[in-house]
Amino acid sequence: MSNQTLASFSGEHKLLLENRLEAFIEELQAPIHLKESMLYSLKAGGKRIRPLLLFATLEAFGIDTKKGLYPATAIEMIHTYSLIHDDLPSMDDDDLRRGKPTNHKVFGEALAILAGDGLLTYSFQVLANMPEEHSDSKTKIALISLLATAAGAEGMVGGQVADIEGEGKQLTLEELEYIHLHKTGKLLVCSVMSAAIIAKASGEQLQALEKFAQHLGMAFQIRDDILDVEGNQELIGKPLGSDIENSKSTYPVLLTMAGAKEAMQKHFEAAKYHLQSTGLDTLILEEITDLVVLRES
Ligand code: IPE
Ligand code: IPE
Ligand code: MG
Ligand code: MG
Ligand code: MG
Repeated sequence: MSNQTLASFSGEHKLLLENRLEAFIEELQAPIHLKESMLYSLKAGGKRIRPLLLFATLEAFGIDTKKGLYPATAIEMIHTYSLIHDDLPSMDDDDLRRGKPTNHKVFGEALAILAGDGLLTYSFQVLANMPEEHSDSKTKIALISLLATAAGAEGMVGGQVADIEGEGKQLTLEELEYIHLHKTGKLLVCSVMSAAIIAKASGEQLQALEKFAQHLGMAFQIRDDILDVEGNQELIGKPLGSDIENSKSTYPVLLTMAGAKEAMQKHFEAAKYHLQSTGLDTLILEEITDLVVLRES
């Protein structure tokens, strides 16, 4: 049994991750303003839920969590790039992110776009350079393929396109599910499945973990939609009411606030059910799941 609480587990692993992210950017031979812009958004804070999910899944398998350091930094780079682009005037047009002015507000739109591009491509460089003692070549290729699929047109980017194209329209619940599963769910699933690949999980474990992470992703984005309406701006570090301003279809819009909370609870329970069916030591993963629905930021 793991004897660590989530607080000590996340404190230790966030430090590891954040030091590594900073070191990776420092190592880059690139224009100084580009590095500053990339580092600005990486260091702005954030819950680091994707890296923590990856580390906690390794912990559930009893595998040394350091083996997940490179994929965890790669996923956080992709996530951060997605936020920089998501906030651009041509997308959600937001001025605040992680409690600070958005990247384009500080560095200008051109550099914000290029910092996002830099983070996206660097994430794959990082994965390709994963040390031998962390992974064999076959595992490394599987991780690269998984991340590319989760981040690209079949994953997060596809979901972002459907989200933008859905503005001002009354979407069906199915269409909204597609958006949430892709724009948000795919990177969360990728975090869990990257660890499962490193741990050489069985077919049954892979299936159960994928279902767990899909439901967790849905609950996570429904909570995000709810917080956009009734959150505290100080705590969430981004502007309230962004979705209404952009006429987005969200769970509260489609199902009412009470209906959105019910749907979130349903996905939360399904996530817990699939997690428990893995037979792994899932204590920390369960605590992260609780946090996803209770979070105020
Ligand atoms: C925000 O993600 C964008 C969504 C996918 C909802 P997070 O809520 O994980 O943002 P940070 O990383 O903590 O800032
Ligand atoms: C964005 O969803 C998900 C991403 C891929 C960045 P949102 O647009 O709802 O995320 P926030 O609320 O701006 O963080
Ligand atoms: Mg958006
Ligand atoms: Mg947004
Ligand atoms: Mg949102």
